[in-house]
Amino acid sequence: MTLSTTAVVVCPYDALLPERGVAALLGSRQIALFRVFSGELFALGNQDPVSGANVMSRGIVGSRGDVPTVASPMFKQVYDLRTGVCLDDPSLVLPVYPVRVVDGEVIVGD
Ligand code: FES
Repeated sequence: MTLSTTAVVVCPYDALLPERGVAALLGSRQIALFRVFSGELFALGNQDPVSGANVMSRGIVGSRGDVPTVASPMFKQVYDLRTGVCLDDPSLVLPVYPVRVVDGEVIVGD
C-alpha cells in the first residue's frame, strides 16, 4: 500500500468500537476518528473550537434527524460528523479529513 505524505494508517478497522471516538495524529494535527453504528467512519479535528481543548474524540456520538453528530464533551455544541459544522452555530466548524479503509486498515488523509 502506497500512501501520500499526508495520509496515515491509524489502526485496524476492527479496533474501532461503534459510537466511540479515538484520537490520532495526522502529522502534527490531532484528529478525532469516529465509527458510527452504520459502520461509516468520520475523521474531524480533535480540538474543540470553543474551549480549545483536544477532546472531540471523547464527545458523545449521536444523530439529529438524519445527521450523524458528535457533541463536544466540554460545552455540548453538536457538530455534523459529515461536514464539521456546528448545527446551531455555523460559525463553529471542525476540520474534516478524508478517511477510508484499505485492506482492513483505517487511513486518514489523502
Ligand atoms: S449545537 Fe449549540 S452552538 Fe452548536
